[in-house]
Amino acid sequence: MEFVTLQGRDGAFAMPAVGFGTWKAASGQVDDGIAQEAIRAGYRHFDSAEYYGTEEAVGRAIRESGVPREDFTVTSKVWKTHMGRQATLDAFERSLSRFGFDYLDLYFVHWPRYAEGAEDWQGVLLDTWGALEELHDAGRVRALAVSNFKPRHLELLLEHGHVAPVLNQVEFHPGFLQQETRTFCKEHGIAVQAWRPLAQGSLANNDAMSGIAAAHGVSVGQVALRFDWQSGVSVVPKSTSPERMRQNLDIFDFELNEDEMEAIRDIPEGTAWSGLDPDGEWPAGLVQLKVD
Ligand SMILES: NC(=O)c1ccc[n+]([C@@H]2O[C@H](COP(=O)([O-])OP(=O)(O)OC[C@H]3O[C@@H](n4cnc5c(N)ncnc54)[C@H](OP(=O)(O)O)[C@@H]3O)[C@@H](O)[C@H]2O)c1
Repeated sequence: MEFVTLQGRDGAFAMPAVGFGTWKAASGQVDDGIAQEAIRAGYRHFDSAEYYGTEEAVGRAIRESGVPREDFTVTSKVWKTHMGRQATLDAFERSLSRFGFDYLDLYFVHWPRYAEGAEDWQGVLLDTWGALEELHDAGRVRALAVSNFKPRHLELLLEHGHVAPVLNQVEFHPGFLQQETRTFCKEHGIAVQAWRPLAQGSLANNDAMSGIAAAHGVSVGQVALRFDWQSGVSVVPKSTSPERMRQNLDIFDFELNEDEMEAIRDIPEGTAWSGLDPDGEWPAGLVQLKVD
């Protein structure tokens, strides 16, 4: 395993470069059994969110694993519909109690805008960020992060906040490289992490990807993850298959050469994009989150 060094409130800490994604994808839910299997496979970093409904399963699996809590990097995210100071503080407490932990390693603002077309998204975002800063200053979370932030969203936090995000988790994979956002993050010392790092397996029939995979004797998924990591981006692939869980961790024993990196960079931008834009309109069903 390789690691990304993040600057936390109490000093630097190391986050595994490959974490385990826990969003419930169509092929199966991430439940206790899957989370336990991921720990057995070697995952020590879990990407979670209140929206995913996986915090309880992840927390239970970690608590029952016999592996010390401090060996894990555990994250969660406040959802769009819980933004604003008090709603965010309440959402954090609910998340923490579902995990059964007394701190989180990273707490994210999941998306920069709380509602499509909302006029005062900047005010709501700053109130939300203020709540995260309170949690950070109180030692409830080691470091703060954001997800799906473009430069203009990040600029707002950097200008008005007193704690800077250490990580921006965005969609990134061959065919969706987000160059402008990555350049901005690099210039401001913000690490970038890929969600959907395998493009949900949809690049299996891409000729460039399958040719490179055959040349290295690995899978297209491993090529995608290796490309992400060699592009300076850590990854949180999700799998419900023990075999693919292990495969997705096994990306540090081969290296893509510059021609291979270039061939993957040449895959047209927008290929296998999820269609979710931080500033765009969303299907209504994706926005709602029931508060328990
Ligand atoms: N911040 C955000 O807004 C945001 C948004 C979406 C996702 N995320 C996070 O990112 C994580 C990953 O994203 P994702 O789940 O959408 O997509 P992904 O990790 O790119 O792909 C997961 C899909 O690919 C399959 N798969 C896994 N390993 C594979 C391999 N080696 N080769 C081929 N196919 C493979 C899985 O099926 P099997 O289960 O059958 O292996 C699953 O259907 C999520 O779980 C979540 O934690 C964050």
